Amino acid sequence: MKKIIFSLLLVLGAINTANAVEGDAQAGKDKSSVCGACHGATGINPNPTYPDLAGQHAAYITKQLADFKSGARSDMMMAPMAANLSEQDMADLAAYFASQKRASERTEAADDNSAPTTAAATTGSAEIVTSTPAKAIYAGDVKAGQEKSAMCVACHGADGNSLVAIYPKLAGQSASYLTKQLADFKSGARKDPVMVGMVAALSEKDMQDLGAFFAVQTPTAGVGTASNVGQKLYFGGDAEKGITACVACHGVNGKGMAQAGFPALAGQNAAYLNKQIASFRDGSRGNDRNDMMRNIAIKLSDNDIDELVKYMSSLK
Ligand code: HEC
Ligand code: HEC
Ligand code: HEC
Repeated sequence: MKKIIFSLLLVLGAINTANAVEGDAQAGKDKSSVCGACHGATGINPNPTYPDLAGQHAAYITKQLADFKSGARSDMMMAPMAANLSEQDMADLAAYFASQKRASERTEAADDNSAPTTAAATTGSAEIVTSTPAKAIYAGDVKAGQEKSAMCVACHGADGNSLVAIYPKLAGQSASYLTKQLADFKSGARKDPVMVGMVAALSEKDMQDLGAFFAVQTPTAGVGTASNVGQKLYFGGDAEKGITACVACHGVNGKGMAQAGFPALAGQNAAYLNKQIASFRDGSRGNDRNDMMRNIAIKLSDNDIDELVKYMSSLK
């Protein structure tokens, strides 16, 4: 009997601690930027693929996130989102979205508040190309790629021109490079908690089609501020420090060399570029053949990276 009472107390204790995780809406807001890509910054997205979260019960949101994490509820997009959330993160996110007004409570005048990130992200600038150009030889099919890209739009933009700095632009990148990255995310050769969930269900053909679709889109011009220091390093390298000039592989205009597998960098989002070079430097990205990028990145100082990124992201 004593034993039963003791375990009962334990269980009650566990329930109490579970309840004790109090959500903090402000902290939740800070943690919600990635959610906004699909659910809208304030929890409302008119796109019917994504449920509204604004004004939902906090306890319900917390339970769904825990279920996505444990696998009790399965969804390809949500599983990687929930994978790294702690109990506190879930409570904070739930508190934030629960505190937002539901769509029905919002007035027309307050509409700017409800404008989801996605609206901006999906209305890219350029016209979307939907057929394979006659001269291009791609393993993938552009039209098929477009149909498969619905899931990518939230973060990378309908035309591959992501407006959110942490998400890379894909527009105009070489198809073979894009396809390789998708395969690398799938095999684990390149690691990213978000992308691993996106590629889990993609076949080789899907990856080729997606690569072809984004490759034929027109990239928007870069918005970085030019840097002379960065330009000098890009074209000349640094013989003293043993830094190979970037131009050797990424080209005079930063457009890369598709056949050789060297990606375009021109006009890419600065925050993304910065993170990639830093990841090559600390080895957390290691999918470059023969350590090509890691050998270079390891010699770059923080300042070198900042100046290079300014330069590359300013290229048209
Ligand atoms: C890539 C798009 C995407 C991102 C990013 C995303 N979600 Fe989701 N989310 C979805 C989809 C799609 C569903 C619907 C899943 C289903 O059909 O079961 C969903 C469902 C949910 C649900 C369940 C809603 C309900 O009514 O049952 C919650 C809660 C949720 N997401 C929270 C979040 C949070 C918090 C984040 C950020 C950490 C996030 N999501 C990021 C796409 C996304
Ligand atoms: C929830 C946001 C999100 C969604 C949805 C998403 N991605 Fe990504 N994607 C990212 C992030 C973040 C990175 C950068 C990862 C890193 O830092 O290494 C990325 C990187 C990539 C890269 C590497 C680009 C480069 O220059 O090396 C490719 C290719 C890519 N995504 C394709 C896709 C495709 C195709 C889809 C749809 C099937 C998709 N993504 C859906 C967030 C997303
Ligand atoms: C010897 C050839 C070579 C040189 C020189 C080189 N790179 Fe690279 N770089 C590569 C290759 C190959 C990749 C792609 C690796 C892969 O397959 O994922 C890459 C990828 C990158 C990426 C990631 C792009 C993306 O979309 O994720 C950045 C950023 C980058 N390089 C910056 C630089 C900078 C800055 C320099 C000069 C300091 C430089 N590279 C010099 C070969 C090179």
